[in-house]
Amino acid sequence: MNALRSDLQKLAAAAEASFRPEGPWRPGIHLAPPVGWLNDPNGLCCFQGEYHIFYQYAPFDAGGGVKFWGHYKSKDLISWVQCPVMLCPDEPYDIHGVYSGSALCREDGLYLYYTGNVKYDGDFDYIHAGREGNTVLAYSADGIRLNWKLLLLRNKDYPSEMTLHVRDPKVWKQDGRYYMIQGARTQEDAAAALIFESKDGFQWEHINTLRTAKPFGYMWECPDLFEIDGQWILIVCPQGVQKKGPGLENRYACGYFPLWGDFRGDYTLGEFIPLDFGFDFYAPQTFLDRDRRLLIAWMGMPDAEYTNPTVAYGWQHCLTSFRELRLKGGRLCMRPIQELEHLHEETRTYSFSERLTVDLPEIADIQITCGGALSLALSGISLKAENGSAALTVHEGGYGRDTRTAFTGGLRNLRILADSSAIEFFVNDGEVSLSARWYPADLCLALTLYGEGQAVVYAMRSMEITKYAETVSAKRKT
Ligand code: FRU
Repeated sequence: MNALRSDLQKLAAAAEASFRPEGPWRPGIHLAPPVGWLNDPNGLCCFQGEYHIFYQYAPFDAGGGVKFWGHYKSKDLISWVQCPVMLCPDEPYDIHGVYSGSALCREDGLYLYYTGNVKYDGDFDYIHAGREGNTVLAYSADGIRLNWKLLLLRNKDYPSEMTLHVRDPKVWKQDGRYYMIQGARTQEDAAAALIFESKDGFQWEHINTLRTAKPFGYMWECPDLFEIDGQWILIVCPQGVQKKGPGLENRYACGYFPLWGDFRGDYTLGEFIPLDFGFDFYAPQTFLDRDRRLLIAWMGMPDAEYTNPTVAYGWQHCLTSFRELRLKGGRLCMRPIQELEHLHEETRTYSFSERLTVDLPEIADIQITCGGALSLALSGISLKAENGSAALTVHEGGYGRDTRTAFTGGLRNLRILADSSAIEFFVNDGEVSLSARWYPADLCLALTLYGEGQAVVYAMRSMEITKYAETVSAKRKT
């Protein structure tokens, strides 16, 4: 085996083994890195009866650094096994980062497609010169250990009108063929998505380029393309969007275009629709789990103007909860997966007709039905929903976060997953969501509701996370 790979694996394992997350704000129902830094979810799949989630991981530096693929797996999406790192930056074609990508489950194993990032030292703009974005395939027969890596495509294999920014392959099988979509930036600084086709998953041919009539940003990161209830959806994370307003208030955007026609030939893209209206939601990835499509995103934002205080405790960032997608009136709705309800413990039910204050457990699933306007305040965060829109404001512990807004229409219900430093709001059965990290000094949470309605508060227990080595030794003993 590659000596660098073996050293990096050992170093990552040692960094994980010697780390005990201490201090406040470690989430219980959101996946966080075992140590160090986490960003995009990668390679979501259900392989041989187990869910796998990989993620962009910098185990040696909570502030970021060269990326690996970290790895969790689960049988039920609520109890997890923390597996050894799957991919390390250990080849000349991925030496500065094993960047984002996706998984394809085949009969003989797990095929992982990702971007191998290479950056040269020197005076480069790193757009037209000075870097490589390689498309790499990694194979694992058992879904735990890497067997081999293979360089599939280099920048010269992409259309010549593209800059060196081409990355984040998402691969799927359809009509007996394999398809791959990658995010790209053209020489004219317009965002695009490249479509490739393959008969065998190894030899790829560029067959189409998806773009808007007028550029929508200069780069689309982390594209995803799928059909749901007969509608094709193109998810992208646009950088450089000039338009402002609800859902476009963050450093970079994240949302989708409805796509009509055939992504392989003639197609039309509809209006861009933001996926989430909070501060911290980026690089989502979906996969088909039997008959439902699940999505999970990074609960963070690249190059954000705020900082997170957990860096001082040796870790940073987490993923959103798993969300089930549905299409309603041509728009995507997202709801936390049902499995989370298995983590419910004690239940309390309240009616309120003006104002109500309740103590909250550290991890809570709060389900509110109401008519019309509603305001709530919760340890440094407030949400005000009236006249068809909602404003989420972080008053304390935002570390730079202030206010985000969303158009919601009339408020019928609201669900909140509040998890010590990660909070997700789902308005009207998930028609609108707002996700945020915040770091309240007072972890004894209290919720005040202003308005009229009912609230059910479920205390939740944390997801169980076991180390892979422990599951292996437990198996040996039985
Ligand atoms: C999105 C992103 C991807 C890239 C990865 C690197 O957050 O910039 O485009 O592959 O992160 O960590």
